[in-house]
Amino acid sequence: MKHLPIGVFDSGLGGLTVAKAIQKEMPGEKLVYFGDTARIPYGTKSPETIVRYARQIIRFFRKEKKVKCVVVACNTSSAWALETVRGEFPIPILGVIEPGAYAAVSATRNGRIGVIGTEGTIASGAYVRAIHKIFPKARVYSKACPLFVPLVEEGKLTGSVTEAVASEYLRPLLKAKIDTLVLGCTHYPLLKKTLAKVAGKKVRIVDSAEETARSLHHNLAMHGVPMNGQGGCAYFVSDLSRKFKEQAQRFLGRGISKVDKVFIEKY
Ligand code: DGL
Repeated sequence: MKHLPIGVFDSGLGGLTVAKAIQKEMPGEKLVYFGDTARIPYGTKSPETIVRYARQIIRFFRKEKKVKCVVVACNTSSAWALETVRGEFPIPILGVIEPGAYAAVSATRNGRIGVIGTEGTIASGAYVRAIHKIFPKARVYSKACPLFVPLVEEGKLTGSVTEAVASEYLRPLLKAKIDTLVLGCTHYPLLKKTLAKVAGKKVRIVDSAEETARSLHHNLAMHGVPMNGQGGCAYFVSDLSRKFKEQAQRFLGRGISKVDKVFIEKY
């Protein structure tokens, strides 16, 4: 079993930042990454659709790749589908929201935490619940930032347009005197530079990738799942667009030489 891979998925390539953190935390683990590039964005879809997508991807992972566990490296899917699929499949399934909430609670000094994410993630209230479970007195200020995903997809990570959008979105959170900002979407770590500039030095920016990798390590040990295979990562997507290479480079910091397309609706 120790040679069986870990499945990691996201609506697109943003989850590659989580895959990268897992490889750093557990270099011996073999990963299978699936980016649902044909159906991105998830952030504007209904909860029923998000659950259906998650089921299909986990079925693909189990049937074709025999994964020993799954990481839902997408905030929107973690918010809407995690609980349902956890009850349906007999393997450990981990999301990014709980680890992100832990990281935020450890980072805050004044108990005022800002959370930004897609419309779906913010509407679910999943971060507010996860943070309050650990730190009931925390004041959580949430804001949906629907323009961030298209900006990242277009490679507009810095510059006046992105800064203006970020200032508008962060204004109410900064007014509420947050000292910690949770990046509740896998696309947002790429905007860190702009967000840090707009938020100022006093605000700590929390990205759940590293915390998720640590939590996965801990979870596998707790479930007695054998670890340490041969490392490496195989990449799969539901659509191979012309922009794939450029986007993979952006999220992973290096190119991907081999990627296969999967007809995910069949699962
Ligand atoms: N990956 C999604 C998330 O983390 C953001 C992109 C989308 O809307 O699909 O919520």
